[in-house]
Amino acid sequence: MAKAPDSLEKISAEVVGCPLCKLARTRKNAVPGEGQLAAKIMFVGEAPGRSEDDKGRPFVGAAGKILDEMLAKAGIQRSQVFITNVVKCRPPNNRVPEDDEVAACMPYLDRQIALIRPRIICILGRTAYSSLLGGSSITANRGKVIEKAGQKYFLTIHPAAAIYNKSMLSLLEADLKKLAKEVQKVEGGGASLEDFM
Ligand code: URA
Ligand code: SF4
Repeated sequence: MAKAPDSLEKISAEVVGCPLCKLARTRKNAVPGEGQLAAKIMFVGEAPGRSEDDKGRPFVGAAGKILDEMLAKAGIQRSQVFITNVVKCRPPNNRVPEDDEVAACMPYLDRQIALIRPRIICILGRTAYSSLLGGSSITANRGKVIEKAGQKYFLTIHPAAAIYNKSMLSLLEADLKKLAKEVQKVEGGGASLEDFM
């Protein structure tokens, strides 16, 4: 029998009932991520926090408020993006996800990426940087575009780092504006129709 094609809905349904790592035992709600299949940018954070665990939706707490504000300032529409995390369930007390949890959860993110085929993946913070690209210092590399295996990545800090830190907030704002420009560049492949209007 032919295998049914994969879909974002199928992935979400699997995540919601996923038993594959120990975070399944302490989560209230798994958080698959949300956005359009046609999203041009994919944002990848670390893991759901308390608000996300309560609602089953990504970036809906304090860090999400910052992300929303910065997206608006960069002129990036929510409909242009897909937002998810490296691990889909909240670690107890918001500790950093452990290697076995990241390894167990990564196939879901890989499948989301394969379906969406985003023009660029925006890495939010150190956990996403190390999990997806094996990197370590996000502060030293933020603002950079990296290409790996034909996929473009943009590196920036985690919005949670900017909650009580004005200078981090300005860095995040500058980075997301740069990301918006980068996406236009990839999209237009140089000049776009708008350039002549
Ligand atoms: N922090 C994250 O990394 N992800 C969320 O969804 C919320 C806060
Ligand atoms: Fe499954 Fe990922 Fe949740 Fe672990 S974190 S239970 S692998 S969905």
